[in-house]
Amino acid sequence: VKIRSTNVFQQPSHITRKKRGEIVGGGPEGSFHGCCVWFTGLSGAGKTSVSFGTEDFLCSKGYASYSLDGDNIRTGLNKDLGFSPSEREENIRRISEVAKLFADAGIIVLTSFISPYAKDRVQARELHEKAGLSFFEVFVDTPLSVCEERDCKGLYKKARAGIIKGFTGIDSKYEPPLKPDLVLKSAEWSIDQCVDEVIKMLRNHKIIP
Ligand code: PPS
Ligand code: MG
Repeated sequence: VKIRSTNVFQQPSHITRKKRGEIVGGGPEGSFHGCCVWFTGLSGAGKTSVSFGTEDFLCSKGYASYSLDGDNIRTGLNKDLGFSPSEREENIRRISEVAKLFADAGIIVLTSFISPYAKDRVQARELHEKAGLSFFEVFVDTPLSVCEERDCKGLYKKARAGIIKGFTGIDSKYEPPLKPDLVLKSAEWSIDQCVDEVIKMLRNHKIIP
């Protein structure tokens, strides 16, 4: 984006991560767990299902977790954005910033956006890592044929019929992650199995015990 906000100065917070952990850390030990789990994949891959399933599990264990989902954010914060390449880029840029704030607040934030462009996901990672927050890129790796077969929202049918233009996987590109932190084969595994893999990853990285 073109930076238009001039003469602004970052104001450092007085609240430490330790303090935030004590307040919102949750879980048995009440320490800081803020981080970002970034799901990426085609429409209908299972991003929303796995993200919401992970949120259910974490919240049931007392961890503050929050899912930011494409369909939801695009009816609110980002309702001024469409699906052109530059609008998708801006969509992901805003979500990256929002996710970072959630993670900084001590929340395990889960994002489920197609996020089709590799460079935007790299920027999302950098934003978090610069702020000392862990970032996990999770590729919900479902073949286009399976997503199209599922066609939960009937959007592939419309895209094939030319009613929707610039649909991801049909006539708009998706760049798969080259080095994701986790790959979920959602066509072969159940949602619960996918959620288990995400939780295992968070345990391996000591985000949760
Ligand atoms: S992006 O590419 O990251 O900005 O997209 P995202 O914010 O995740 O929004 C994707 C959801 O919007 C619906 N939708 C489309 N998807 C892809 N291409 C086009 N042209 C399009 N138009 C509408 C679709 O329901 C996506 O939801 P999911 O959950 O991914 O299926
Ligand atoms: Mg979805």
